[in-house]
Amino acid sequence: MEIKKLIRKSCLGFEPYVAGKPIETLKRELGLKNIIKLASNENPLGASKKALSALKKNIDKIFFYPDANAYELKQALSKRYSLPAGNIFAAAGGDEIIELIAKLFFNAQDEIVFSKHSFIRYGMAAKLMGSKSIAVDMKEVFTHDLKAMAKACGAKTKAVFITNPNNPTGTYNTKSEIAEFLKALPKNKYGLKPIVILDEAYYEYAALEKDYAGALEFLKANPNLIVFRTFSKIFGLAGLRVGYGFASKEIVDYIERIRPPFNVNLLAQAGAAAAIFDKEQVEKSRKLVKREKEFLYKEFKKLGIDFVKSAANFVLFNSAPFKGKDFFKVMLKEGVITRAMDEYDLPDWVRVTIGSRKENEIFIGKLIKIRKQFVGK
Ligand SMILES: Cc1ncc(COP(=O)(O)O)c(C=O)c1O
Repeated sequence: MEIKKLIRKSCLGFEPYVAGKPIETLKRELGLKNIIKLASNENPLGASKKALSALKKNIDKIFFYPDANAYELKQALSKRYSLPAGNIFAAAGGDEIIELIAKLFFNAQDEIVFSKHSFIRYGMAAKLMGSKSIAVDMKEVFTHDLKAMAKACGAKTKAVFITNPNNPTGTYNTKSEIAEFLKALPKNKYGLKPIVILDEAYYEYAALEKDYAGALEFLKANPNLIVFRTFSKIFGLAGLRVGYGFASKEIVDYIERIRPPFNVNLLAQAGAAAAIFDKEQVEKSRKLVKREKEFLYKEFKKLGIDFVKSAANFVLFNSAPFKGKDFFKVMLKEGVITRAMDEYDLPDWVRVTIGSRKENEIFIGKLIKIRKQFVGK
């Protein structure tokens, strides 16, 4: 049977998402013992301690289904952000949030606007629904060109994604740029402004920048806005799969209707509800990332390597004279997992997650070694 005939047209030709290579996979593949992973923007300090103790307390309860309404988690988020629980939703990570938004809003005739070199999952979500992707060129130094993005919106535009700060470039748009963008956005054929999705996966890191602002404060005045964040990054809970979003009560109500009933598992709910109040985790992680970014910048400068200053916990750098893909492969053999950027249309660049000082020193040491070995530089 030619199963292809039964597959939805928009799913034919779909490429799987290439995730950061797990340490265990590389161990199996190359038989290496000492491996460091700097590929998926995880937290080198590990999981929030508050989350870990909540997980321990709840482990015996996993024979129960989770609370389908994630009540405690929403209450915790409501308290943390002083926002009614009715404006909050939870999901199995930012990834599921992107997909839920696509399922809720995107039709085949719709256009979805995002920036070139922004998080790859937006284009995938548009493709899944058969919608048309409009990828707008960035400004120099790899920053979203919000003016051009607003101009790219027309009658068919259903939604616009903005990653702030952006993955993989680490750049961000300022509070006033976001405000201007929301104002400038034209109405579509429905007589409404398109849905604007602000992906703030790295919010806690970027919040240290003076002119950065989370988009939460724009929510009241902009009923077309959805803001989402994750527990995968600063809170160190990537393996639990939990994220959350803010939107108007009306949008949240629709998301609640279409999401799978138990999308956030019992441990994830308990861990996240505790982590959101873990100030120590946030402070320590911010301090480490700030210090270690400076360390990497300094080392890159010494080596004459071009890099982009980042407001998040990763840095994009030019892998010349290697192609990014080759750099990634050679570094794998050295036991360092980085991330090539071909899927982001940046074949000469590599993204490295900020690790501990020890990990960053190993990374720089190996980088110097392979440059010398392969190109005598
Ligand atoms: C910009 C951005 N958005 C969303 C996500 C999804 O994160 P998660 O599904 O782990 O919450 C990521 C993860 O790398 C990301 O970088």
